[in-house]
Amino acid sequence: MSIENELRSTIQKLVQPGRGILAADESNPTIAKRFNAVGVESTEDKRREYRSLIFSTPGLGDFVSGVILFEETLGQNSLDNGPMAKLLESQGIVPGIKVDKGKKPLINAPGDEITYGLDGLDDRLKTYKTQGARFAKWRSVYNISDALPSRAAIEANAEVLARYAALCQAIGIVPIVEPEVLMDGDHTIERSAHVNEAVITEVFNALGRHRVHLETMILKPSMVTPGSGCAKASADEVAEATLRVLRRVVPAAVPGINFLSGGQTPEEATLNLNAMNSRGPQPWSLSFSYGRALQEPAQKAWAGKLDNGNAVQNAMLKRARLNGAACSGEYKAAMED
Ligand code: 13P
Repeated sequence: MSIENELRSTIQKLVQPGRGILAADESNPTIAKRFNAVGVESTEDKRREYRSLIFSTPGLGDFVSGVILFEETLGQNSLDNGPMAKLLESQGIVPGIKVDKGKKPLINAPGDEITYGLDGLDDRLKTYKTQGARFAKWRSVYNISDALPSRAAIEANAEVLARYAALCQAIGIVPIVEPEVLMDGDHTIERSAHVNEAVITEVFNALGRHRVHLETMILKPSMVTPGSGCAKASADEVAEATLRVLRRVVPAAVPGINFLSGGQTPEEATLNLNAMNSRGPQPWSLSFSYGRALQEPAQKAWAGKLDNGNAVQNAMLKRARLNGAACSGEYKAAMED
């Protein structure tokens, strides 16, 4: 298959009505925090057990089109002893891979951060592809204050995201471009809207400069919300502010926008996505690429015990199903019971 056809085939599988992406690509320090919250020590074996359990949830593929894996997981066998990527494929789910190497301070820009990982990325992508990955994710992170992010951070991160996306497409891997504007802080929803608009505008400038094919990429933005130190906005306010920004700056050629959950509760993330999809058709599909908002209940149900497997899978399927409903505006709070 030509590279172009590979990209087209993958994007068609990823962007489908009523389905979204599960972000299970927590780095080892991050998954250790999540496991710690449910009283489990993070070892390679425990990570393998937990992730095998959620990926083998019966029916998961009805609501999840792709799963983003951490490098360790892509190289692991599931509890059935086959490769994790094969387990996902058997569920009709496309395996993906987080390829960035995390963030560090941006030099000479106090408070700003930049994501590392471009060096050697071309070779790593080739290896990931032979291991079964068909799409990738790169996350850039923007802190908000009255002064942050600086122009330098907005431009540097956009450039890196675009170079990553171009490298992915050159070898037939669909890039997820994730500019995450953090919720941390006491900023208003208006400030979040302003920063998101500036950040995403610059990302598409850079994608254009690097001739990234917009039709075979996915944008993974934050929702526009007030900072976590402020009173919460209603789902209607979040939907209105988010759509206003996206309609201004995301070209209609982009097939899918899959939001991160960024610290929203599972119920909030579902309600907010639903509010957006209740407002009639948009130029792009609006779906989810949640980590915490999909997995929190499953992690609580697991608590490190394989015997809790059924409860884990029930919790996983429930959030996947409800977010699937939110993709078409059909979610109702009563469906939580
Ligand atoms: P959250 O949904 O927990 O924010 O994670 C999504 C993600 O992939 C962050 O990079």
